Amino acid sequence: MLYRQKFDTFIRQYDDVGYITSKSDFGDRVVDAAGAVFLKALSRTGQSLDALTAKIAASFIGVDTAVLQKDSAEFYAMLEADGFIVSGGTEAELDAKDTRFSYATLEPKTIKKDFTPVIMRAEKSTQEFLDEHFKGKPHLTSLQIELTSRCNERCVHCYIPHENKISDIDPALYYDVLGQCRDMGLLNLTLSGGEPMLHKNFLEFLRKAKEYDFSINILSNLTLLNDDIIAEMKANRLSSVQVSLYSMKPEIHDAITKMPGSFVKTQDAILRLIEHDIPLQISCPTMKQNKTCYVDVLNWAQEHKVRAVTDYIMMARYDHTTGNLDNRLSLDEVGQVINDIISNDTDYQKEMSGADIAQADTRDISNDIVCGVCVSSICMIANGNLYPCAGWQDYIVGNIKEQSLREIWDNSPKVQYLRGLRKKDFPKCLSCIDKSFCAMCMVRNANENPDGDPLKINEHFCKVAALNRKIVMDWKEKLQGFVETT
Ligand SMILES: C[S@@+](CC[C@H](N)C(=O)[O-])C[C@H]1O[C@@H](n2cnc3c(N)ncnc32)[C@H](O)[C@@H]1O
Ligand code: SF4
Ligand code: SF4
Repeated sequence: MLYRQKFDTFIRQYDDVGYITSKSDFGDRVVDAAGAVFLKALSRTGQSLDALTAKIAASFIGVDTAVLQKDSAEFYAMLEADGFIVSGGTEAELDAKDTRFSYATLEPKTIKKDFTPVIMRAEKSTQEFLDEHFKGKPHLTSLQIELTSRCNERCVHCYIPHENKISDIDPALYYDVLGQCRDMGLLNLTLSGGEPMLHKNFLEFLRKAKEYDFSINILSNLTLLNDDIIAEMKANRLSSVQVSLYSMKPEIHDAITKMPGSFVKTQDAILRLIEHDIPLQISCPTMKQNKTCYVDVLNWAQEHKVRAVTDYIMMARYDHTTGNLDNRLSLDEVGQVINDIISNDTDYQKEMSGADIAQADTRDISNDIVCGVCVSSICMIANGNLYPCAGWQDYIVGNIKEQSLREIWDNSPKVQYLRGLRKKDFPKCLSCIDKSFCAMCMVRNANENPDGDPLKINEHFCKVAALNRKIVMDWKEKLQGFVETT
């Protein structure tokens, strides 16, 4: 019998624990130090139990081989039952069992399966376990690289100032950083831009990322998609491609991107990726131009079983110029979008009908972290500058040409500062009755503030949160009235 990790699972060792995660719907598992040895023995080619046990035996001095073999058979059987690995008599049998993402088998709304956890079971979620485990020594798990700031579109809302859309990453720098990421056990690599496919080395960059066994996410307008890129995407362990589509009306999409013909190219590319079973997510930010037709994008996506998300909170450009916000929805217009969502999104309705929103959330969250920036994730632009989060390019925490990624991650004063922030550093938010409806975000604060202060709360978000709460309260009241009269 041969055992192999599945195409879309990833294995990492973090200090003395092992970690396996699946980009399908199987979630993840953490195992203790002994389990980590069993996990690490697995690879992407089939191995017999004898071969696996021989590898494992090197780490357990004086343990009987028969005992190890029995333990490993049980351990791998559990991982297989949980959907992380496959076993079979031949590589062909392993291939047949190693089913990949496919739109044909996708349910329109994916229902998370209830896999009874088998390993490191249950008192805590994996994320809680890892957070606790890494406390005091946060681990970099996600990096976003802006391969180029150049772009073939000129979107009216873009947070990258158009005059800065000029630089490509040097391939040598990209390969160097990837090597450093591998040594640090990085899991998720996001390739973005500008338009990442404009970089002439994009294909080789994708190949190298596959070699280093990262889970890859691409953010693109897809207008430059071609057969070679599709073939590489198919071979690659892509967790997803995120594409921006703003309207199903070509003239509106093109008016946002300022590139005539862009709608047709992006829509065609989306259909080709669906045809090739490449996992997609559509991003459809709402703004003045598409406020009456963004819903068509969400419906079209649903018809094609593609997840689509909208976002009505536009951020200012990273150089603190705010001209792009002329396209942001006014409060009344945001209200209309929230009303649309609450009337049509059954998931949101379910979530809201259960929530006791009349009461302020009284849990003590004062010592909770604010978000994952510099706790588990960081970003880099073409010149090697590292910064905390997409859109926050001017908050430079270090440069990779001057210091290693490890040094910046461990020692940069700005990284330490952001990492040390807690919810109590936003005192106005702690006691805020609207906080359950709020998307408070440091980059959105910083970009819209002339001094770039991430702690200075952006009042626009407070107004949106208060409005959101009011709309949900009114909706709940109406629902209650309806239930009582029927
Ligand atoms: C900067 S783009 C880079 C990838 C690619 N060029 C694209 O447009 O998909 C990534 C995403 O950021 C969104 N975006 C751009 N400017 C934004 C802003 N000011 N606020 C919020 N999202 C923004 C885009 O719509 C896109 O979905
Ligand atoms: S949002 Fe993306 S496609 Fe549009 S200008 Fe910005 S980087 Fe280019
Ligand atoms: S609404 Fe304003 S004060 Fe309240 S949590 Fe959000 S940002 Fe903080």
